[in-house]
Amino acid sequence: MKFTFYNPTRVYFGIGEFERMGELAARMGNKCLLVIGQGSAERLGFLKRAEDMLADAGVNYAVFRGIEPNPHLETCVEAARMAIEQKCDFVLALGGGSVMDACKAIAVGFYDPDNLWDYINHGQEKVTPVKQALPIMVVPTLAATGSEMDPGAVITRWETREKCVIWSSALFPKISLIDPALTVSVPLDYTMDGVFDMAVHVMESYFNGDQEAVLQGRLIEGCLLTVFTEGKKLYSDPENVKLREKVQWPSSLALSGFFTAGRDGNSPVHQLEHVLSARWDISHGRGLALIMPRWMWYVLPTNPAPFANFARNVMQLSSKGNDLEDAQAGVRALCDWLDSVGLFLTLDDFKIPAGELDAAAADCLRLYDRGQGVIGGVKPLSLEDVHAIYLM
Ligand code: NZQ
Ligand code: ZN
Repeated sequence: MKFTFYNPTRVYFGIGEFERMGELAARMGNKCLLVIGQGSAERLGFLKRAEDMLADAGVNYAVFRGIEPNPHLETCVEAARMAIEQKCDFVLALGGGSVMDACKAIAVGFYDPDNLWDYINHGQEKVTPVKQALPIMVVPTLAATGSEMDPGAVITRWETREKCVIWSSALFPKISLIDPALTVSVPLDYTMDGVFDMAVHVMESYFNGDQEAVLQGRLIEGCLLTVFTEGKKLYSDPENVKLREKVQWPSSLALSGFFTAGRDGNSPVHQLEHVLSARWDISHGRGLALIMPRWMWYVLPTNPAPFANFARNVMQLSSKGNDLEDAQAGVRALCDWLDSVGLFLTLDDFKIPAGELDAAAADCLRLYDRGQGVIGGVKPLSLEDVHAIYLM
């Protein structure tokens, strides 16, 4: 095992903690760009409350509205220009993963708005390293991506439909104010998309990472047991704030480095998914629900052991005595779980034409193969493999 563990985000967590926003923002700087999405923060009164708290704490602000789900590069550049004009000294995200990710891009764009795409890894020969970024504070309103405790953002260049990642330790939020009460209003479909997204973040490491990292394996099993059990309860009781709280913390921790230290691997399921959400603008969690069980079925013959462990220790199935059969039963059990929360879907549910999947597979390799000619993971995937999984 070899790893570096670093996470400087200061987390304030709890139902009702939103009320501390002014006091905490005052520790960040004098003037922020307060960034929101396409209307929910305004409609639900979160924006008004945030503005009042900033004013009371003596923090100046300018509001940028309109970050899209699957945030666009072009919008982030516009927001970065506003932060420059307004002379902001930090960015404050009030929204879901898209708003938090956009704030990370804005933090970089503040220093170099014309070249923001060069900092985002889109398969170019040299990715420009982030040398400066505005300090970032986040207030998540949706449990899903883990952007509130990780140093990454996923940005779509809308013009070319390329959805790619920027990852730099300069982008860890300095303060993450996590109040599960803010997530009660998330519609049921997005809620379950988010629950599955947080599960996939740790499943990627569980299947693709170093199997010798046994403590991380056990931690991930505990995380997944929690997410699948509490997530299912939340599906039938979405207004229960205590259940919201139970899925919020796994979401925040999932990509913080805590679960993955020593067990980090590739993220093939995310890479296959990002092409779908870029091309067809679908929800990220929904796209993952399409890909994950098919990817598992396709790759598990290569190394059934981690998939068999998933079946026994997470899906809690009794063993049939051989790894391959156990692993396949685990995938079926996952499909049943997805079905039970409205997430067992096919490409037809999104009107994605099968005829365009070869071009989607080509995008996947071009953008994410890191010069290797394959998408990494427990089974490295060629162009033909990616296409075959999409067709499944
Ligand atoms: O835009 P508004 O009006 O705010 O509405 C949003 C949006 O329509 C709404 N919403 C958010 N909070 C709400 C709410 N509606 C009611 N009540 C609330 N409290 O929910 C919709 C989806 O929001 P979005 O932010 O797009 O969802 P999510 O948090 O799932 O973020 C998805 C984005 O994050 C990226 C995804 O690829 C996608 O672009 N990811 C970021 C990662 C990271 N930073 O590490 C990792 C992930 O794997 C993921 O790729
Ligand atoms: Zn994800």
